[in-house]
Amino acid sequence: MSDNSSNQMWGGRFAAGPDAIMEAINASIGFDKRLAAQDIAGSRAHAAMLAATGIISDSDAETIREGLLTVLSEIDSGTFAFSTALEDIHMNVEARLKEIVGEPAGRLHTARSRNDQVATDFKLWVRDQFDAMEGGLLALLRALVDQAEAGADWVMPGFTHLQTAQPVTWGHHMMAYVEMFGRDLSRCRDARARMNESPLGAAALAGTGFAIDRHMTAEALGFARPAANSLDAVSDRDFALEFLSVASICAMHLSRFAEELVIWSSAQFRFVALSDRFSTGSSIMPQKKNPDAAELIRAKIGRIFGANVALMTVMKGLPLAYSKDMQEDKEQVFDAADNLMLALAAMEGMVKDMQANVAALEAAASAGFSTATDLADWLVRETGLPFREAHHVTGTLVAMAEKKGCDLPDLSLDEMQSVSASITEGIYDVLGVHNSVASRLSYGGTAPTRVREQVMRWKEILA
Ligand code: ARG
Repeated sequence: MSDNSSNQMWGGRFAAGPDAIMEAINASIGFDKRLAAQDIAGSRAHAAMLAATGIISDSDAETIREGLLTVLSEIDSGTFAFSTALEDIHMNVEARLKEIVGEPAGRLHTARSRNDQVATDFKLWVRDQFDAMEGGLLALLRALVDQAEAGADWVMPGFTHLQTAQPVTWGHHMMAYVEMFGRDLSRCRDARARMNESPLGAAALAGTGFAIDRHMTAEALGFARPAANSLDAVSDRDFALEFLSVASICAMHLSRFAEELVIWSSAQFRFVALSDRFSTGSSIMPQKKNPDAAELIRAKIGRIFGANVALMTVMKGLPLAYSKDMQEDKEQVFDAADNLMLALAAMEGMVKDMQANVAALEAAASAGFSTATDLADWLVRETGLPFREAHHVTGTLVAMAEKKGCDLPDLSLDEMQSVSASITEGIYDVLGVHNSVASRLSYGGTAPTRVREQVMRWKEILA
């Protein structure tokens, strides 16, 4: 308040209002207005409880309830005038309630503090983000499982060090991401269950002398129980940090897949065609189709993990209980959540639309001596050679093929036998990429049979 009047909420002991710079650094309304719905839900639960416990009258509670609904509708319709002088969403809502209903508004803050209020609001908001994340992940998982089912036996190169390693199936590669995003989903559910305790009624830090019913407000707000320690309830933000950690790991997974889509959609690879809906053109090069959505998803980890580091740093070393430092918790989480949901939705859209180039995948799978391991394994199985020696023989054959400029199956039996006399015609059966993947039947292996089993398992989980 630059007019030098003191604050109507806490101005009792103040002769003068804050400096304009103080007001600017202190106010959070510019961003915490996003907590309006949660703030009003918390206040409604609190008012109902105050009436049920006889701390305020039923008629005051009813007046407060109706007034809060009016405030909410003003905020929803955009007619609410947010005031920086009123600092934050809590005081903006309460001040407007007072304008609408008068004196009963002053009873709402009985047995409550902005400290338990903000912890409650923010928890409700973060809990919604866990739910949104769950929805986004489920949709993405379904899209990946569909791709895996369609291409359970399409052969492609599997890479290590981004060098062709062994043939794998498209379905297997898609299902690898299903496992990763599946764990993200389970982390999301774990964290949501852990954070679902109500801070409301912890008051400023020590609890309250009023005979409140914290179980009642917890239940009204969908919390599993009230938080057991009032100091902890108002002063930890580990629930937001868990959200950011879970979101960071998920964004890391998204960035890896996004990177593969960028590579795969290049003219050099041509493994996939991304749809026009998730690509852009170039203003100067008419032939270009750029994988911008994939690139942006790849980049989102930067701000999401950045938020994680930022909030961890804000919280580090804070003494109990509430400190104003903690007002710096919100913007980072808002930004991270918005961007995570966008990235999940964009990835789901891209995965649904993308078209694998089955011929290019198979051609690439066959190149680069990708079945050399199969050849070595055959020598072990059929001729009893120790694997290390089989590895050496195979290396010699690869060098021979490389020199001739051909692939392993193009070497004649005579040429093979010049390296190892025990090689027979049977060797050619394992040099094809389809045989190679079909043979990898070990649990978790790339064989189409195994991939289809995993597809079925996930379809049941996702049903
Ligand atoms: N705007 C504050 C925040 O976001 C609300 C809590 C303020 N509490 C206080 N005692 N000043 O953290």
